[in-house]
Amino acid sequence: MELFEAIKTRKSIRKFKDKPVEKEKIIKIIEAATLAPNSENKQPWKFVVVQDKDKKKEIAKISILGGIKRYTSIKDELNEKFKAMEDENRKKLLDRFVSGELFHFLLECPVQVVVLADNNIIYAVHSCSAAIQNLSLAAHALGLGSCWTMIGSINSKNEKKIRKLVGYPEDNWKIAGVLALGYPDQDPNPRKRKPVEEVIDWQ
Ligand SMILES: Cc1cc2nc3c(=O)[nH]c(=O)nc-3n(C[C@H](O)[C@H](O)[C@H](O)COP(=O)(O)O)c2cc1C
Repeated sequence: MELFEAIKTRKSIRKFKDKPVEKEKIIKIIEAATLAPNSENKQPWKFVVVQDKDKKKEIAKISILGGIKRYTSIKDELNEKFKAMEDENRKKLLDRFVSGELFHFLLECPVQVVVLADNNIIYAVHSCSAAIQNLSLAAHALGLGSCWTMIGSINSKNEKKIRKLVGYPEDNWKIAGVLALGYPDQDPNPRKRKPVEEVIDWQ
């Protein structure tokens, strides 16, 4: 797939086919991740590929709870954000946020990739973010879908719980993302972006 085509057509995927992802493909996309620019080429990352059902379930549970907490606490803000919607649709959408239903895809995806940044190294999270972008574009180019999530890490206790689950309890590690990965079972509408003229500041 041509680069600009891949950038333009990648979308976060939150519904996956019940189909395993080939190991070679997983290796290929993580290799692409490792080719990202990173500070001082220190490569401050680990990519934990979680396929074990119980482990995936535990990570998803923590994420869903994080979602419930976060969106319950900003329910009024969400209500305001969706005020243009019809009452019934708005209520349904809000329910999906505050019930955690919107994060169930983490339970159902065939693979989770936990990206860990070694915070003993300068700009580790920035470097990992560049790697995650490569990873998601490479996944897309291979016909896979992904969604970068952070909701499970919104609270530091929960973030640590996830790190412990995957064997990185030491506090120099920080979660840069938990990615859901798999074959897409949806083709969502692209999310709108601000017009480029609005975000460029020529000086
Ligand atoms: C740092 C970061 C954290 C994110 N966390 C979540 C998340 O917790 N749950 C989720 O469903 N999507 C999450 N996303 C995905 C964004 O919602 C998504 O990228 C954005 O709405 C734009 O949509 P697109 O990726 O389809 O273009 C996250 C993305 C980033 C970069």
